[in-house]
Amino acid sequence: MRPGQLLDRLRRGDELTPGEIAAVVRGAVSGEWSEAQIGAFLMAVAIRELDVAGSSALTEAMLHSGDVWRLGDEFPSLVDKHSTGGVGDKTSLIIAPLLAACGVPVVMLTGRALGHTGGTADKLESIPGLRLEVDRQRCAELVGDLGVAIGVATRGIAPADKIFYRLRDLTGTVPSLSLVTASILSKKLATGARGIVFDVKTGNGAIFPDLAVGRSLARRMVGVCEELGCAASAVISDMSQPLGSWSGLASEVNESLEVLGGGGEERLRELCLVLAEEAAARVGMAVDRQRLVTALDDGSARRRFVDWAAAQGAEAGWDEHPLPLAPHQQTLRASRAGAVAAIATRELGWILAEAAAGDGASGASLDAGVALRLETRLGDRVDEGDELARLYLRRPDDELVERARRCFEVAEAAAPPPLVHERVPEEVP
Ligand code: URA
Repeated sequence: MRPGQLLDRLRRGDELTPGEIAAVVRGAVSGEWSEAQIGAFLMAVAIRELDVAGSSALTEAMLHSGDVWRLGDEFPSLVDKHSTGGVGDKTSLIIAPLLAACGVPVVMLTGRALGHTGGTADKLESIPGLRLEVDRQRCAELVGDLGVAIGVATRGIAPADKIFYRLRDLTGTVPSLSLVTASILSKKLATGARGIVFDVKTGNGAIFPDLAVGRSLARRMVGVCEELGCAASAVISDMSQPLGSWSGLASEVNESLEVLGGGGEERLRELCLVLAEEAAARVGMAVDRQRLVTALDDGSARRRFVDWAAAQGAEAGWDEHPLPLAPHQQTLRASRAGAVAAIATRELGWILAEAAAGDGASGASLDAGVALRLETRLGDRVDEGDELARLYLRRPDDELVERARRCFEVAEAAAPPPLVHERVPEEVP
């Protein structure tokens, strides 16, 4: 069927068959479909959304538009974890070596910063010498030797997503559940992991702040994974405040090492344990909470991270001292006594992204030393003048500090939010 005919059917409200959806993807990659026609397809999908079967067909076609690594054939218990992103979300850095130290092999192809959310790849690259360009063969070697490989998606993975992503940006069709699901999963499933746990964030720092939308996304991603033969579950976790004590590239590596060594902030550690347990359970590995806690407390998870980093090029001894932070510390203080009632997390993410990007004119890479340290969390009691948070900047910037100060609201009373709001599938009591 010609593109115009197929689009006409979409306009009239017809459902496309999986074969027709695959034809759209093939046409986009081959150039048979013009950008105008692809844009019209994307808009129709964004307005009407696909059902789970349509989402699966789109995901599968995008997945097979490029390289498919099938690492699960060699490592049947291979797992992955994906987060929809937020501020201070460093769980990938902790979960991957933690699971590997417990005998669960992990592969992760991670992304760069997207909008106000920090990218795992950018965080890891603040480790001197570390390289994330790994191909299939190198990933297999790393998983075989150390049980963990972390990289960025190679050019050959899901080329259809690259085409769609650019046109989604141009046509205002980024926040569509069907398109987000296919975009994320076409890259995730390319490695061949047998189990995936999704960390879908909810709250004012999440890409989809609304819990009901997060739930729909979680259900869709889990449903599509299951249809395509990958065991999956999702945890809907809180992003109404930054996760952990630190946000910012190098500072998040430092904090990850703390957690991997048995310390760290309690909510961050707990979420990592929850996600690691879920991931292991997806592939039937009997790794319980106690086993995971032991790997953190006895230092084996931390050692695995350092060994993995060395295998991917990190300079020897980088972990002996914390990675350096930007020198100008600016303190944000409470203007009244009460309880921390709200933190404008998305705005804090943008402030960090702006500060780390510098003037942007030089084209220099991100400033890994820019950081935010939370001294208080939602629900904490404070007195007037108490320190709420501290910014680490390359140079003084009063305007930025004032913007950050306005992100904290202190009220008469407030309660801390739950760490995990829901799970998909739901837990049976
Ligand atoms: N991450 C992706 O890879 N794709 C999306 O559409 C959204 C987040």
